[in-house]
Amino acid sequence: MLQPNPFIITADYYGPEYFCDRQVETQALESNFANGRNTVLISSRRMGKSGLIAHVFNRKFVQSNFKSFSIDLYPTTSLSEMVLLLAKEITGQLKSKQEKILKTFLGIVKSLRPGFKVDSITGQFVFDLSLGVIVQPTESLKEIFQYLESSEIPCVVAMDEFQQIAEYPDGNVLELLRTYVQKCKHTWFIFAGSDRRMMEKLFNNPSEPFYMSCSPLYLDAIDYEEYLAFAKQHFERAGKSLTDECFKRVYGLFEGHTWYVQRLMNELYAWTEPGKEADVPMMDNALTFVIKTYARAFQEQMSSYPEAQKQLLIAIAKEGNAEQVTSVAFCKKHAMKSPSTVQSALRVLHDKGVVRKQDNTYSVTNRLFGIWLTTEY
Ligand SMILES: Nc1ncnc2c1ncn2[C@@H]1O[C@H](COP(=O)(O)OP(=O)(O)OP(=O)(O)O)[C@@H](O)[C@H]1O
Ligand SMILES: [Mg+2]
Repeated sequence: MLQPNPFIITADYYGPEYFCDRQVETQALESNFANGRNTVLISSRRMGKSGLIAHVFNRKFVQSNFKSFSIDLYPTTSLSEMVLLLAKEITGQLKSKQEKILKTFLGIVKSLRPGFKVDSITGQFVFDLSLGVIVQPTESLKEIFQYLESSEIPCVVAMDEFQQIAEYPDGNVLELLRTYVQKCKHTWFIFAGSDRRMMEKLFNNPSEPFYMSCSPLYLDAIDYEEYLAFAKQHFERAGKSLTDECFKRVYGLFEGHTWYVQRLMNELYAWTEPGKEADVPMMDNALTFVIKTYARAFQEQMSSYPEAQKQLLIAIAKEGNAEQVTSVAFCKKHAMKSPSTVQSALRVLHDKGVVRKQDNTYSVTNRLFGIWLTTEY
């Protein structure tokens, strides 16, 4: 039978054997749930927030002590859409339950009754929720919180890409949510987000409703030794081997950034026949191959930027972690017009998430795009 590639690169969670480490973070989250603390989970994109949430929700501790719900707010643009997502997540879990449980739900979340139907053919109860059903989103949100709190088993709720709420046109959603969250006595939350600037503003700024309301959990790269052992073990299980130098090169190239390490390991695993070894030369070829796979998309992305942004992007990519980008010296070195040109180009690239800022240095957010830029220009 065909063995699945153990280096997962999609957002789905396949179980603990495909999940590397994160023991400290897992314990931190479980302890927060056990002790009534809400969590704000922050990391760069593709570092593993959603994976960590899925991993923790899959654990025995959570499965046997809590009801867990998880929503990804990324595609939502309004409070109604958020309420719809939450209602769907909860009712999705009720689907297979008995009539009594459904009645309890509808007894509390009265505003969603119009979305509840009896299938005329099968006679089964079904939820047919759509935006049209969310007529009073604030009322529905209040009732959903009442329902969560009425549960005999405590609930844990993960709201992924939480910063999206700040974009909603509806007024005071954050205040509203904060009021309900604050009142909860046995429902605990994880608010996860990758827009560090926005997340820190929402949770660390005294004028924001969620100020100091959660235990912060920052997700960094997975520990090198742990990741090495994980990778080698998966190779060995399939009768393949991986040299330490090869893994070191992958980890170093991407500073341990999870998805990128997974992407390369996935490729190397596929390239290595049983009985054979993945080494540094193979890794260099695999990297060239992977970058080539995305080259067309990168070219297109590049052609969509005006000249100043293009130039700046190339300059940042060449520096790797670029410091003092708006200085005269940086401009001179990279033949940019002026610091003010750099400043406005930088603002756009940063706002679009094309470059990211960490400790006053800028780098290209998509690490593969960054490498492609250095090889192409
Ligand atoms: N601990 C881990 N072990 C192995 N693979 C992992 C681990 N954590 C995450 N991954 C993998 O890395 C990739 C990125 O993870 P994930 O989607 O969880 O990141 P994210 O921080 O939520 O990203 P985004 O900000 O884009 O939503 C996924 O393919 C996931 O399967
Ligand atoms: Mg995610």
